[in-house]
Amino acid sequence: MNNLVDITIAFVKAQLANAEGGHDWFHIERVYNNSLLIAKGEDCDILTVQLGALLHDIADSKFHDGDETVGPTLAWRFLSAQGVAEDTIIHVVNIIENISFKGGNFEKKFDSIELSIVQDADRLDALGAIGIARAFNFGGFKNRALYDPAIEPNLHMDKEEYKSTTAPTINHFYEKLLLLKDRMNTATGKKIAEDRHQYMEGFLEQFYAEWKGER
Ligand code: ADP
Ligand code: NI
Repeated sequence: MNNLVDITIAFVKAQLANAEGGHDWFHIERVYNNSLLIAKGEDCDILTVQLGALLHDIADSKFHDGDETVGPTLAWRFLSAQGVAEDTIIHVVNIIENISFKGGNFEKKFDSIELSIVQDADRLDALGAIGIARAFNFGGFKNRALYDPAIEPNLHMDKEEYKSTTAPTINHFYEKLLLLKDRMNTATGKKIAEDRHQYMEGFLEQFYAEWKGER
């Protein structure tokens, strides 16, 4: 079974060879490690967690013209070729299809402790120092401004009218990152998310102070 995990790691590394910095192999490695940490506190099927974490981002729809079937199809083909049991394949594909944040209004069509674990691990990687780095990396990739003082950041920015494909990266904190701590599934996930949330609050405070030349 260890062998299957190793083969999966090699497959995912090859798939993500040209991925942008926020969605590269190291993102997967961090989510995998976070998943193992969270899984220690939960009664779960560890192989499903491992495969779900490793395969959850092999073809992000944002980079495939919005096509959300590419990743699950690839994962299905790969796991079948490895002779993985069909119920495990179905479970892993369900994790991949249901893990995404999607504005938080996305109704989960599937639920399991294994999905909860991998989802928490993926969300943790959007928080804290890494989360800040990934957000600005993504913003740079999309040629977004860092911040625009004319757009007053506030906690109602998760509403549809504030969402824009050209919004400065700071907006993303209000439309997603600061909302995540209240959406965690597991006890371990919640605890780590709280710490990372505090860190981001401190970052924003410092950011605005520096922007105004106060510090
Ligand atoms: P999910 O895996 O929950 O669907 P995404 O793929 O949307 O998450 O996001 C991946 C990373 O890119 C996260 O760190 C996220 O914060 C960041 N990101 C996504 N959208 C934006 C945005 N509009 N501005 C800045 N960062 C973003
Ligand atoms: Ni991810």
